[in-house]
Amino acid sequence: MSLWTINSNCCRHIKQAEEGRGAVGTGTMTVSVVFRGFALFLCIKRLLCLLITESTYKVETKTIAVDYSHDDIYPKIEKGLAGLEIGVLVNNVGISYSYPEFFLHIPDLENFITTMINVNITSVCQMTRLVLPRMEARAKGVILNISSASGMFPVPLLTIYSSTKAFVDFFSRGLQSEYKCKGIIIQSVLPFFVATKMTKIRKPTLDKPTPERYVAAELNTVGLQDQTNGYFPHAVMGWVTTVLAPIKLVLCLGLRMNKAQRGGYLRRRKLR
Ligand SMILES: NC(=O)c1ccc[n+]([C@@H]2O[C@H](COP(=O)([O-])OP(=O)(O)OC[C@H]3O[C@@H](n4cnc5c(N)ncnc54)[C@H](OP(=O)(O)O)[C@@H]3O)[C@@H](O)[C@H]2O)c1
Repeated sequence: MSLWTINSNCCRHIKQAEEGRGAVGTGTMTVSVVFRGFALFLCIKRLLCLLITESTYKVETKTIAVDYSHDDIYPKIEKGLAGLEIGVLVNNVGISYSYPEFFLHIPDLENFITTMINVNITSVCQMTRLVLPRMEARAKGVILNISSASGMFPVPLLTIYSSTKAFVDFFSRGLQSEYKCKGIIIQSVLPFFVATKMTKIRKPTLDKPTPERYVAAELNTVGLQDQTNGYFPHAVMGWVTTVLAPIKLVLCLGLRMNKAQRGGYLRRRKLR
């Protein structure tokens, strides 16, 4: 975990968390690229951040190394957070499939299920449990939960990932209703593709932006939208896939696209 010493005077809603002296982000060993974007912009906004990462930034940091695929790590995190005022929590840690696959064909399915639920769901609930009580007592704080556009509709062959992200979205929106009146902002963030290690996209495009570009746009929505795609081209894609296109078509295209990707991946693996 890394503790960042930075100040804040921008974005009124992020600033709301300023009196909390830290920010926590989940993502261990090396900071996630999406989160690196979040970190960068929080930095620009000169907040005091606390990141769960081993990355070295030129800011004051504290690191707690944990593996979110385990569910017994939270006492260690709780101990590490003791005495810190957390103003911002970014629940960013997440894993996806290494390639799209039919449920029963997923390698080591039993462990895969447990790991994905621990990393994508349990982490969000448990980190919120650790940080929210002090936010409630101070009547201020911001929690950004990184869901995914694939939580807005089922994505065949990425079914478990898509389902965990739907959980994150529902959890965030339900919790926001519970705690809005207590001065706390909880936002569900649902990006489409961003050029990160997870997506292996090397060349960013308008619809697949760099993490920095995505986060710059996303942070402008904090406090304005409880649920957001965070970036205008993604908002248009979200509207098309959930409002304009019939769900049957979205499922059919998703299945076809992921079957093609699966085929390509398996062919390349055989060639090696
Ligand atoms: N990129 C996209 O297109 C996209 C779209 C929608 C939603 N998202 C969501 O955005 C979030 C960030 O994704 P990303 O694209 O930045 O992915 P990424 O580059 O793979 O980063 C994921 C982060 O989670 C950490 N992590 C993974 N498993 C962990 C574990 N067991 N214990 C501790 N830390 C672990 C990674 O650490 P290491 O670096 O050490 O592996 C990394 O810091 C995820 O929740 C993802 O689902 C991404």
